[in-house]
Amino acid sequence: MAGSEVVNAQVEAVIDLEAIAHNVRVLREYARGAAVMVVVKGDGYNHGAVEVARAALAAGAAELGVTTIAEALRLRRAGITAPILCWLNTADADYAAAIAADIEIGVSSLSHLRAVAAAARGIRRTAIVTLKVDTGLNRNGIASDEYPTVLAALHMLVDEGVVRLRAIFSHLAHADEPDHPFLDVQRERFVAAIAAAEAAGLRTELAHLANSAATLTRPDLAFDMVRPGIAVYGLPPVPGLPDFGLRPAMTFQAKVTLVKWVAAGEGVSYGHQWIAPRDTTVALVPAGYADGVFRALSGRFEVLIGGQRHPNVGRVCMDQFVVDLGDNPADVTEGDTAVLFGGVPGAPGAQDWAELLGTIHYEVVCAPKGRVTRRHTGG
Ligand SMILES: Cc1ncc(COP(=O)(O)O)c(C=O)c1O
Repeated sequence: MAGSEVVNAQVEAVIDLEAIAHNVRVLREYARGAAVMVVVKGDGYNHGAVEVARAALAAGAAELGVTTIAEALRLRRAGITAPILCWLNTADADYAAAIAADIEIGVSSLSHLRAVAAAARGIRRTAIVTLKVDTGLNRNGIASDEYPTVLAALHMLVDEGVVRLRAIFSHLAHADEPDHPFLDVQRERFVAAIAAAEAAGLRTELAHLANSAATLTRPDLAFDMVRPGIAVYGLPPVPGLPDFGLRPAMTFQAKVTLVKWVAAGEGVSYGHQWIAPRDTTVALVPAGYADGVFRALSGRFEVLIGGQRHPNVGRVCMDQFVVDLGDNPADVTEGDTAVLFGGVPGAPGAQDWAELLGTIHYEVVCAPKGRVTRRHTGG
């Protein structure tokens, strides 16, 4: 996505940093004294990692979480000095750069730990390491059979001063189902992993397990710090529950480029999937699948223009789609703003797109791309 240096952008993802700050404050209340690490991976869930990080830290977040070293370094280069954890790197990643920038490295295997230690020795600096333990997601994280070996190796590295052990963390498999019994299983395994580290003579400063859903619904999983992502961006993480007072931060919008009359019986857009049932007026919106408007939404979604919802008709193309204005009672004209989804009252939400597409709102807010200009407000 382009930065906000673009003037008069046709298609925008407008990010409300006041909403980010508000959501962080909501999460801090639910965290009940546990610190809040705000997850800004994936360029802040496509909201702009640096801007979101600054707004979140100003609103009381204590730390930041990302996936890769490159993401963490970008935050450091932007002048952010708060603790940053990154947790998904290959064994040949640039650990020396991470260590030199005081970035905390989440370690998921013995080979990762060895690579981090080699990098620390190479630059004669102590690496800050956090153990990522697999408690049942069976994705990233130290496997239970390798855990004792990692603890033994870590103990030696801590004694040598090559590594400082900061924290231990894990990730939940069923957080969006607050009553799921596997949450308790993972809690027990996590507590056992902390105890095993202590029994191996290792002292951690922090333990953290809860993502957004667990932060908001399972206070028993908060430990010392919570690690929310999606809720920071204002999207409620548990389907079917109220929105916890969160405010969506992203509004995806475009300027109407053309308004014109179409005669009854005329087909609209490729393949003439929609034939005008009467004389009508249509508006052309200059956003398509190259911008993150999924083609699978063709003929199934609505946009908000001038306070009214209007349906898309015909296929979504690479660069544009058409909406039917009927008699155009609100007098929509060229240059008006069409809201595709977002926090504007009356507009469809990211969750509406998610339901139409059979996906989750996480993927929807990650969709705006390419020519879309990201613009931050309220920071
Ligand atoms: C390790 C880890 N912690 C926290 C999060 C934040 O999760 P959520 O966005 O559901 O709050 C993620 C996101 O997937 C993650 O991978």
